[in-house]
Amino acid sequence: MARIHSSKITPEHFYFSRRKFVSGLAAVAAGALLLPGCRAGSTPPVPGAGFCDGATAGAAADELGAALTPCDDVISYNNFYEFSLDKEDVGFAAREFVTSPWNVTVGGLVGKPRTFGLEDLLKGFPQEERIYRMRCVEGWSMVIPWLGFPLAQLLKQVEPLSRARYVRFETLLDPKRMPGQTFGALDWPYVEGLRLDEAMHNLTIVATGLYGKPLPPQNGAPVRLVVPWKYGFKNIKSIVKIDLVEAMPVSSWSAEAPHEYGFYASVNPEVSHPRWSQASERRIGDPRLAGGRMRTLLFNGYGKEVSPLYEGLDLAKNY
Ligand code: MTE
Repeated sequence: MARIHSSKITPEHFYFSRRKFVSGLAAVAAGALLLPGCRAGSTPPVPGAGFCDGATAGAAADELGAALTPCDDVISYNNFYEFSLDKEDVGFAAREFVTSPWNVTVGGLVGKPRTFGLEDLLKGFPQEERIYRMRCVEGWSMVIPWLGFPLAQLLKQVEPLSRARYVRFETLLDPKRMPGQTFGALDWPYVEGLRLDEAMHNLTIVATGLYGKPLPPQNGAPVRLVVPWKYGFKNIKSIVKIDLVEAMPVSSWSAEAPHEYGFYASVNPEVSHPRWSQASERRIGDPRLAGGRMRTLLFNGYGKEVSPLYEGLDLAKNY
């Protein structure tokens, strides 16, 4: 791959990729100046303005007693490289992303391949709220009330064949609608993967909403994955394709920097990232921490539920 070496998730390398991305955007902007109707001089709307009005959640805290991250923070501090490398700019950059119609094709090693329209996903599976912690590999975290349904319910409908051992997910590839795909921040489309038993685990959900409303673009509209015991980059956004496969899929971040971002990516305070510790995290919007850090929990606090999946597996090697 013709890439800048190492990861762009990290602050140091972030600078280089951002420069590359921004220079690409500058070229596009220069072209746009020649066109009528460019928005120079107009006041940009606040990203997601109004989304958080009337935001609802079934509880004010997670099962460990941690307060939900304020809705405004959840929708205005995002990683979504297809739109921007700047977390606080993603909401604005994605504000016009059209997500209807939308199809998710589920195939590969299955008995009944099928394409689900968004309506099939919303009406065919009871939507439930799940309040989950999300821990980004960069060292920040949130507590988010998602809406969605267990991925297992979807996979059962397509009848995985016995040879299927992994699930591979792909984000939409459409550089016209996702301008970040014009530049080489990653090999597009964004790809992620899970072992089949991880994918079938009841905690793994297909999210369609948050805070009681359909997902806003910056959070991965209209459907994304949420696997709460893994680092946030496993939670692939704006999914269009799901394949059941025999071999371990190569995810975008593993392809980019295999020594930094493994396939498993389970939250683990004992296994440092090669360039920083994972022992603590900054909980966004938590006034109790006053900008300080809190201890990171093994499997992000979901060890009771998921540690049986990893019996006999060396978590330091399978990072
Ligand atoms: N999915 C796609 N397609 N593109 C991305 O850049 N970023 C990942 C993940 N899913 C990303 C993605 C990372 S690094 C994180 S931490 C989470 O999305 C962030 O989710 P949020 O913006 O909803 O908090």
